[in-house]
Amino acid sequence: MRYKSQSVAYWYFAVAMALFGLQLVFGLLSAAKYLGPDPLLYILPFDVTKMIHTNLLIVWVLTGFMGATYWMVPDESRTELYSVKLAIWQLVLWTAMGLATIFGYFFRYGTGNKLLEQPLPSKIIIVVVMLMFLYNIFMTIKRSGRFTTTEGVLIGGLGLAAVLYLPALLHYENYVISIFYRWWTIHLWVEGVWEMIQGGFLAYLLIRLSGADREVMEKWLYVIVGLVFIAGIIGTAHHYYWVGVPHYWLPIGGVFSALEPVALVGMAVYAYSAIRRSGLQHPNVLALHWTVGSAVFTLFGAGLLGLAHTFPSVNKWTHGTMITAMHGHAAFYGAYAMIVLAMITYALPSLTSGRREQGSPVGYWAFWMQLGGMFGMTLSFGTAGIAQVYLERILGLGYLDTQLKIQIHFVMLIATATVFTIGVGLFIFDFFRYPPRFAVSAEPELKPRGVADA
Ligand code: HEM
Ligand code: HEM
Ligand SMILES: [Fe+2]
Repeated sequence: MRYKSQSVAYWYFAVAMALFGLQLVFGLLSAAKYLGPDPLLYILPFDVTKMIHTNLLIVWVLTGFMGATYWMVPDESRTELYSVKLAIWQLVLWTAMGLATIFGYFFRYGTGNKLLEQPLPSKIIIVVVMLMFLYNIFMTIKRSGRFTTTEGVLIGGLGLAAVLYLPALLHYENYVISIFYRWWTIHLWVEGVWEMIQGGFLAYLLIRLSGADREVMEKWLYVIVGLVFIAGIIGTAHHYYWVGVPHYWLPIGGVFSALEPVALVGMAVYAYSAIRRSGLQHPNVLALHWTVGSAVFTLFGAGLLGLAHTFPSVNKWTHGTMITAMHGHAAFYGAYAMIVLAMITYALPSLTSGRREQGSPVGYWAFWMQLGGMFGMTLSFGTAGIAQVYLERILGLGYLDTQLKIQIHFVMLIATATVFTIGVGLFIFDFFRYPPRFAVSAEPELKPRGVADA
């Protein structure tokens, strides 16, 4: 850690870890309800546990993004943060809002708009928090006068993510219109501006970890972001197939969203070629696992499994089934959970005392158990989805009759989710087992080129 104010990232990461753990509790609870019997049916029904599960996901990932940004911007702009106090207050307000919103869900105080269920007061606080955050970052950069492309892409993504939350503040009585604009937030987040955020962190980590040439990395980052936008913006139409809008959205959605994986192939090649060309020059090999892992798992979960159901001719069968859950899990985990875990793993040796830069065996177990567990969960959701589509939509069995016949896949889901949860538990344990340390220290030396290959 070269700047003392970077230490504020620790508290963001700590909150993110706690909420990540809580997210899984509600995930397991939701999965258990598929098997039944459900003693909590009238206290915490499925819709509430699922809503809490997905909302916690968004909150912890955003907390991770904010912490990682507070870590990265001083490094890139070579200066202290504008205000640590503001960053702390922002975290307090954000966490209080998050917990109060979840608490409110227990009493059905939500809007029912999937993933954007937050009631208006929470939404207003979210906007205020985003403004505090962006102001702090903007002032830091303004004061230093140094601004890199890598952080530009990151902050562009964060700023646009805030702007794209604004449609979520509006309320429409007409369901078609409501659904139409909902995707301006959800789709344009995960398949647009959040990919800029992921790209910014990825470039930063690759430059630091592999010693790859900044100029080359930043040039290709532009190309990837360009590709994301070319396909991703109009690709929104893959959510417009069956929502009550004109038919011309079908071919538009099919063609443009099928192009989206191109950017994700680019991202994986980008990460792989950086380490191929420049080698492993930083001792923190565990962080490199998470970094390259994120690029590769995104290609699998978002690129391949997104493409698998994005054509209208396929989506008319799979829409809203377990196939969607299969893709949602693998994509979200690979792209956004893993990149946050990569930033945490990179920053943690300087934020805690006694931790080895190389990572511990527990850290590697955490990595591989999460990866294996999530892969198994993806397969379980996928096989459940294929059977569901066949029985329910092709043979015409009722929804609940079908669910009874595909129970085995939910047993598999819970088994693999348990492996995943142990992996996350190990990560959280590894996070908290060393006490925080907020002293400025020198960065580890990068090995000279060629040493890694020897
Ligand atoms: C990191 C990137 C991505 C993430 C995090 C992500 C996540 C998700 C999530 C959570 C959903 C469910 C949304 C809902 O129903 O409310 C979804 C739906 C969908 N995604 Fe993605 N996705 C990503 C990229 C992609 C890509 C690249 C494609 C296409 C190539 C794609 C195709 C689809 C389709 C077609 C649906 C609709 C499924 C349905 O009709 O039920 N996604 N995605
Ligand atoms: C212990 C691990 C987990 C379990 C058991 C679990 C289980 C579930 C279940 C049962 C659902 C409801 C599916 C439905 O609509 O019927 C769900 C939804 C969802 N989960 Fe998880 N989950 C876990 C971890 C995660 C993680 C780590 C992520 C992301 C990084 C995630 C992202 C999502 C998303 C985006 C949805 C909504 C999908 C959709 O609307 O189609 N979950 N989860
Ligand atoms: Fe989408």
